[in-house]
Amino acid sequence: MCKATGRAWPGQTSYSIPAPMTVLHYQLHVLYSIVVSLLALLSFCPSYLSLGAAQLLPIAGLNGSTSASSSQLQTYIVHLRKPAHMVSASPSELEVWHRSFLPTPSLDSGEPRMVYSYGRAISGFAAKLTPEEVDAMAAKEGFLLAHPDEPLVFETSWVPYFLRLSTADSGLWNLTNFAKTIVVAVIDSGINPSHSSFVDTYIPSPPSKWKGRCDLRSPNKCNNKIIGARNFDSAGPGAEPLDNNGHGTFVASVVGSNIVPNANVNGLAEGSAAGISAGAHLAIYRADSASGLIASFDEAIRDGADVITVSVSLPEGRFYSNDLAIAALSAAESRLFVSCAAGNGGPHRSSVRNGAPWVLTVGASTIDRALRVFLDLGNGEKFTGESLERTGQVPTQQLNLVFPGDGSNMLRTCSAPLTGVTGMAVVCQSDPASISPQEQGENVRNSMGAAMILMNSQLNGSTLILEDNVLPTVAITHDDSQRILNYVRTAGGRATVTMRAEGTIYSVSPQPTVASISGRGPSRVNGGILKPDVIGPGVNIIGASSQSSNGFVMMSGTSVSAPMLASIGAMLKVTHPAWSPAAIRSAIMTTSNHLNNARAPIVDQTGGPAGAFAIGAGHVHPLRANDPGLVYDIQPEDYIRYLCGLPGYTQREVDAVARRSVDCASEGRISAEELNYPSIAVALSGVRKTVTRTVRNEGPGRSTYMAEVEGMLAEMGVEVNPDVLNFMEEGEEQSFTVTFSIANPMEFRGQVYEGQLKWVATTSLHVVRSPLVVTVP
Ligand SMILES: *[C@@H]1O[C@H](CO)[C@@H](O)[C@H](O)[C@H]1NC(C)=O
Ligand SMILES: *[C@@H]1O[C@H](CO)[C@@H](O)[C@H](O)[C@H]1NC(C)=O
Ligand SMILES: *[C@@H]1O[C@H](CO)[C@@H](O)[C@H](O)[C@H]1NC(C)=O
Repeated sequence: MCKATGRAWPGQTSYSIPAPMTVLHYQLHVLYSIVVSLLALLSFCPSYLSLGAAQLLPIAGLNGSTSASSSQLQTYIVHLRKPAHMVSASPSELEVWHRSFLPTPSLDSGEPRMVYSYGRAISGFAAKLTPEEVDAMAAKEGFLLAHPDEPLVFETSWVPYFLRLSTADSGLWNLTNFAKTIVVAVIDSGINPSHSSFVDTYIPSPPSKWKGRCDLRSPNKCNNKIIGARNFDSAGPGAEPLDNNGHGTFVASVVGSNIVPNANVNGLAEGSAAGISAGAHLAIYRADSASGLIASFDEAIRDGADVITVSVSLPEGRFYSNDLAIAALSAAESRLFVSCAAGNGGPHRSSVRNGAPWVLTVGASTIDRALRVFLDLGNGEKFTGESLERTGQVPTQQLNLVFPGDGSNMLRTCSAPLTGVTGMAVVCQSDPASISPQEQGENVRNSMGAAMILMNSQLNGSTLILEDNVLPTVAITHDDSQRILNYVRTAGGRATVTMRAEGTIYSVSPQPTVASISGRGPSRVNGGILKPDVIGPGVNIIGASSQSSNGFVMMSGTSVSAPMLASIGAMLKVTHPAWSPAAIRSAIMTTSNHLNNARAPIVDQTGGPAGAFAIGAGHVHPLRANDPGLVYDIQPEDYIRYLCGLPGYTQREVDAVARRSVDCASEGRISAEELNYPSIAVALSGVRKTVTRTVRNEGPGRSTYMAEVEGMLAEMGVEVNPDVLNFMEEGEEQSFTVTFSIANPMEFRGQVYEGQLKWVATTSLHVVRSPLVVTVP
């Protein structure tokens, strides 16, 4: 098979991958490349889609730069409009058609141009082309648009901390029957298949519909847990999708680890988070660029996966320029539930990624577990911080406490050598833009400091993201740091601290909170649909390590929360096989918590209410999601009508996203506000606006629901009509309208009103809640 030239792993600069592993991998890669180059010279290298395993050969290692124009060569993703006779073409017929767009089958070097011919995820292909060749191609009948391949962003923010747990001391394993028939596709950086999380004890054989392939080779092989493994990064199809990054193994273990260290993972209020779909089968697809991501979606859909988890993103452009969004629409049309990371761009406004309405967009929350260290100051004040150091490693004797920093930025952040700190606890300001916590730790250690107290930046506020460090390090919130600094300054060189590690504690209050880094709405590209949809545990979570068979690491980011929600989606697929992906999302959203464990609105890193642009509907509540009462469903054709209604899209752009010719005039257009979404977000430019929603009864046949609206300010009128819904049977649908009105919009320009619409059952305990967001533009 033919695959693009290599690309550096994106977003990886702060990861520490041990050198031996990298070198070994590199040597294997070079060896493999040489073998493969020889084989490639002997073969004509057609697309992977129409070939069996033995012929799938990567050509990495061939030197493609032999002609003058080839300096401009790059992989382009080309979107095509299928002519009517191609609509149900086979993959090989499609590939012949795709090849007809290429100026020549191969480059001067002999390297084939075609990288991937796609069957489903987009209508089109990836090929090596120059910009001039793309321009020439644009004149051909059927060409829609093309853009260069681009690297995926891995949505993690962490330096792995190795917990050195072994399966033997991880407590009780509890295998549930949940999700045993479900296949979850993990599109990420590959897998460490020898990790104990992926043993297949008690897991049945793959479902009969499974058509996927396994490219793991001895001693690693697929089993009933990992049932598929494919490679779509620069090493090419056929390569072994092993994980030399750490991200993919972690994500796979969060979504469907067979072994749950209950003692250490307590991500969700109602029991263990990781392993909620402990019985699910995993299908691994390794990708690092858009072209490989599309190939992964293509395969996952064809292979018969039920759920796809995506902890990567592409730049959040309009949908026709975002291949992840397009491929995910194809997956949704094939009834796959797609859970995506909301990105780690928070807390900045409109930092949300993966905001298409056909995916579940998941933000990250902190959990009710803390690795707590008490700090007793010499003046009697007490603070709590968090540390990865276990009891025994944090010094227990009273230490002098110093802040080297007043006056100098370098000293404040402990980025210069420090004097006079021997044996002391050193307070350092975190400043990730200029220095990593690990470098700060090294400076403190080299200056003979005994421990570091790391002050959180103001932006990260009270979100404490724990990372491994070279000396005992206690992270403290920004607010606490200001009070501790006051003490250090007034104590005139006589400040002291005594640290007491309390180990893991549970039921931290108030929880959950929104992690500072979690991507925030409003989305700039989806026409105003509220995103993220929900938040789920994503800070300081434990999962499988890529570097040993028993090691666990701690990781943070929306990369972690997306697979949590994928596993909940997998569970709902088992309990409600008839539900569409939109119905599953509705169940998750309308049953989530918008209040924390203190019954107050969920707060963000500032300690203030987080709001709908941070939490979406709220924090996931898996057990309630299983029994939502009512669901807001959406059919694939509704998404097309929504696309037709998005302002500014040309016919080509709609066709590229829909992967077919769309006649918007006959298929219809709806505004984003009218999509039957479980949240309601409207822009109120006049004095009133009405939107319609339809709910389906998934609860007891005879049931009555009454509308309640909460949280809106007096000047914003909200009227629900009808405000009572009577259902006679299960599956029955009823529609209602919600009218927002304001007497004088000019007076309230720029205001954002948030509230809740609840359908409260009078005949059962169901409460079906939708967030309401009204913006007065
Ligand atoms: C490819 O070939 C060119 C010209 O012969 C040479 O300068 C370049 O170093 C080669 N690149 C690789 C990666 O071998
Ligand atoms: C295992 O899970 C089942 C069902 O989810 C639960 O009833 C049981 O108490 C659990 N057992 C242990 C030891 O955690
Ligand atoms: C917030 O925390 C994350 C994770 O540690 C880090 O990557 C980011 O740089 C921090 N931002 C600021 C401004 O401190």
